[in-house]
Amino acid sequence: MRALVMTGPSQGSDRTEVRDVEAPRPGAGEVTVDVTHAGINFIDVMARRGDAGYVASWPFTPGKEVAGTVRELGEDVTDLAVGQRVAAFLPGAGGLAEIALAPAALTVPVPDEVPSATAAAAPLMLTTALMLLTDAARFGAGDTVLVHSASGGVGSAVAQLVPALGGGRLIGVVGRAEKIPAALKSGYDAAVVRDDDLAEAVRAAAGGAVDVVLDPLGTAMVDTDLAVTAPGGRIVLFGNAGGGRSGALPPLDRLRAGNIAVAGFSVSALAVTAPHRVAVALRRVLDLVTDGRLDLPVTEVGSLAETPATHQLLADGHGSGKYVVRIAES
Ligand SMILES: NC(=O)c1ccc[n+]([C@@H]2O[C@H](COP(=O)([O-])OP(=O)(O)OC[C@H]3O[C@@H](n4cnc5c(N)ncnc54)[C@H](OP(=O)(O)O)[C@@H]3O)[C@@H](O)[C@H]2O)c1
Repeated sequence: MRALVMTGPSQGSDRTEVRDVEAPRPGAGEVTVDVTHAGINFIDVMARRGDAGYVASWPFTPGKEVAGTVRELGEDVTDLAVGQRVAAFLPGAGGLAEIALAPAALTVPVPDEVPSATAAAAPLMLTTALMLLTDAARFGAGDTVLVHSASGGVGSAVAQLVPALGGGRLIGVVGRAEKIPAALKSGYDAAVVRDDDLAEAVRAAAGGAVDVVLDPLGTAMVDTDLAVTAPGGRIVLFGNAGGGRSGALPPLDRLRAGNIAVAGFSVSALAVTAPHRVAVALRRVLDLVTDGRLDLPVTEVGSLAETPATHQLLADGHGSGKYVVRIAES
């Protein structure tokens, strides 16, 4: 089968190529999926640049979310059928390929109403956005939410989910002023540029402090987060887009005085430690798409061979919204 293969760490796409590799076979509790669409994610870029903890060994095939049809069932898998349309989260990656190996516990049926391109954005990206708001941030209707990565896939999904969860004021942070119109179009009530006056700009846009902060920038913005969070607020740290070592967390006295909670979130870790929770969230986002409450536009990339260019777009911070690659006809 054909797969996207990264042969070693690189800041660019010079060590990424499409190759023929051996197709995986399912073991007990696993399935293989004939992939029609796969999600392209920033985590692929983190793997490509060799960030610690993302690649166990090279060569490496990235891709943590796919949609397609069940190809083969492993031993003991009884609740899925060969040929069934599914979406799957892949803890060990390998989704940017014609055939992917997935745990049955993280493979869920896709309703007929959900297009495959959308389904491929659900296991990692939409599920993360939902779990960030519900499980990690305890979002409640009427909360004001600040998102540091407003223009990306997760940021655009959060903008869709907040209204579906009861509504609230949405403030997005973008890297450059040119990205403001896209953030507003995707559903943000206000968008501000990440610069020296960020805390002041956020407070002005929010009309005061915010209740929830979703921050994937390591610890680089934690001081700003604390400065804009209301008493009772929740800051969720869920990534390290800039790479490098994370700094220290805020001192307890500061959290206690501010009545502020700081939480961590990783869907990849949860897929290993509590896969049923990820599967429940995945089913829920697919249901939200089915009943029309979630309608996420995705940009379709035409082939595996075009995927390295999209990775570079994300690496350079020039992406907009969510990208999925079409691998076969659905
Ligand atoms: N913990 C989890 O479970 C989990 C799950 C999914 C994603 N994530 C993390 O969440 C973040 C967003 O993911 P995504 O899928 O939405 O990614 P994406 O579509 O590539 O968007 C990345 C976003 O981060 C912003 N950004 C800020 N600093 C950046 C940097 N140094 N390099 C590149 N982009 C930067 C970019 O826009 P601006 O330039 O406009 O700021 C962009 O909005 C990533 O860091 C990812 O690793 C975590």
